[in-house]
Amino acid sequence: MKSRRRIYEGKAKVLYEGPEPGTLVQHFKDDATAFNNKKHEQVDGKGVLNNRISEHLFLRLNEIGIPNHFIRRLNMREQLIREVEIIPLEVIVRNIAAGSLSARLGLDEGTPLPRSIVEFCFKDDKLGDPMVSEEHITAFGWASPPEIDEIMALSLRINDFLCGLFVGIGIRLVDFKIEFGRHFENDMMRIVLADEISPDSCRLWDIKTEAKLDKDVFRHDLGDLADAYREVARRLGIFFDAEPKGSAGPKLVKT
Ligand code: TMP
Ligand code: ASP
Repeated sequence: MKSRRRIYEGKAKVLYEGPEPGTLVQHFKDDATAFNNKKHEQVDGKGVLNNRISEHLFLRLNEIGIPNHFIRRLNMREQLIREVEIIPLEVIVRNIAAGSLSARLGLDEGTPLPRSIVEFCFKDDKLGDPMVSEEHITAFGWASPPEIDEIMALSLRINDFLCGLFVGIGIRLVDFKIEFGRHFENDMMRIVLADEISPDSCRLWDIKTEAKLDKDVFRHDLGDLADAYREVARRLGIFFDAEPKGSAGPKLVKT
């Protein structure tokens, strides 16, 4: 493979220099991590699944006018994206109590929230992505008040749209994490959705059975992670040219 400049490597993705200025290649790895990398395994095919699921969701969001960094998918594991200046915040949107919210406020997992709640965490692995308020964000200059307003408005639109999209395929969108960046074009700057939206960064529960179809399967050893992600992809109508390695596809039986 020809060498190219690696710009950034995270736990589940690598960013490479793109073919044209202002572009990057986002590569999805098979690494699954949880609890700030304390638990770490390779899950065959996860990168391929997340690349396709995130592509699908970003394209649908683009159709309703949510500006985002996605340009096009390049291959099984990579997509071409616009280079943005990442705002160092993890924006979490919650519809139903689960995970750290349940732990923090003593709410039973599965309790519907009175309304959708948006939380901000400061993106810093060394600190364990601590939750922060708008006061911290503006005082430390991570984002301005108008940028926070834009991020809140976009996050709630994304939530409304994705809740409907997932209900349509029998899945409850419990919560999810998104990231935003600043995209500069000529003298203009606009806030765009960046990073990924995949079962790594969402909680997705089957509406009928409440089965988890997201990274909690890995976090809490509930079964085969790739099987859960494949089910999400299948329901979204994503079909693969070639099955991800290790998957048990249909077998032709000769009689
Ligand atoms: P939490 O309940 O653990 O705070 O997670 C809320 C949502 O954010 C959940 O859908 C998982 C997602 N998430 C990430 O994508 N990355 C992270 O590092 C964490 C902690 C959560
Ligand atoms: N993404 C974080 C990690 O890799 C935490 C998580 O998703 O649970 O450790």
